[in-house]
Amino acid sequence: MNKQVLTDFEAKWRPRINAYLDEQLLDCSNQPTLTAAMRYSVLAGGKRLRPLLTLAVLTTFDQPITPANMQASTAVELMHTYSLIHDDLPAMDNDRLRRGEPTNHVKFGEDVAILAGDALQPLSFEWIAASALSADVISQQTLALAQASGPQGMVAGQIADVLGAGKHLELPELKQLHREKTGALIHYAVQAGLIQAQVEPTVQEPLLQFADAFGLAFQIYDDILDVTSTAAEMGKATHKDADEHKNTYPGLLGLAGAQSALKAALETAQTALQQAANASGRDLELLAAFLTYFTD
Ligand code: IPE
Ligand code: IPE
Ligand code: MG
Ligand code: MG
Ligand code: MG
Repeated sequence: MNKQVLTDFEAKWRPRINAYLDEQLLDCSNQPTLTAAMRYSVLAGGKRLRPLLTLAVLTTFDQPITPANMQASTAVELMHTYSLIHDDLPAMDNDRLRRGEPTNHVKFGEDVAILAGDALQPLSFEWIAASALSADVISQQTLALAQASGPQGMVAGQIADVLGAGKHLELPELKQLHREKTGALIHYAVQAGLIQAQVEPTVQEPLLQFADAFGLAFQIYDDILDVTSTAAEMGKATHKDADEHKNTYPGLLGLAGAQSALKAALETAQTALQQAANASGRDLELLAAFLTYFTD
């Protein structure tokens, strides 16, 4: 795993993702307040992990990144940002800081924040459907995003998180919650690249296992960072999960236990990548480099 490979890829693509989102959201509504609220949260920053993963899969399979690929690959960031706006609402996690800025509802009010999230969600599907990709690719990607973000995906995890607060979840339930609330969209991000590049099923399978292990690791790491880092470092409130009686890996297993669960998930991800490398004969260094995200 070479961190520089990830750093170089981010340096190339993150500014292009940001510029694309900015340009495409200039006139996303004829309601100025709605436009402003949508742009505010999407453009506040963020690591852009999910579109970067899709673009990394395309790059791995030598797929040139056309404007159509760009539109269909950045759409996930709209879905992700909607999930963050709603996650931060007073009725949910009640957070006042996100991506280093006041949360959407603090800035615009709860009514506008709910509607900005509501609007970003279908816009995400619109970008996929309106892209100039083939009808078959569009249909597969639309189905995948609906499954990942809906009642068997991200929202299922979010309700388990909300209803589970204050209750004791066992490890299998917590793992499932993490796979849904965070893993599902990360699974989708890899899948979107596999669909666009029309990668054969025998290679897709281990790469989706990689995505699932990465997604679980990502939420375990988020739980760990809530305990070990500062709001200034994270751009969002920390030391909050325990106060809110959330079910987290450090809460259930202790910090050391959470760190070994993270390590185990990363090992699973690496094994899956090795299987994908064997099945495809491709160099998967770029995808492997994403695992260095966890070694800061
Ligand atoms: C935050 O996601 C919510 C979780 C799923 C843990 P990110 O850590 O990807 O947040 P941004 O997009 O960089 O702000
Ligand atoms: C959020 O999980 C997952 C989604 C937004 C779907 P968290 O509630 O842990 O995310 P943060 O810590 O607020 O970013
Ligand atoms: Mg939450
Ligand atoms: Mg939250
Ligand atoms: Mg968190």
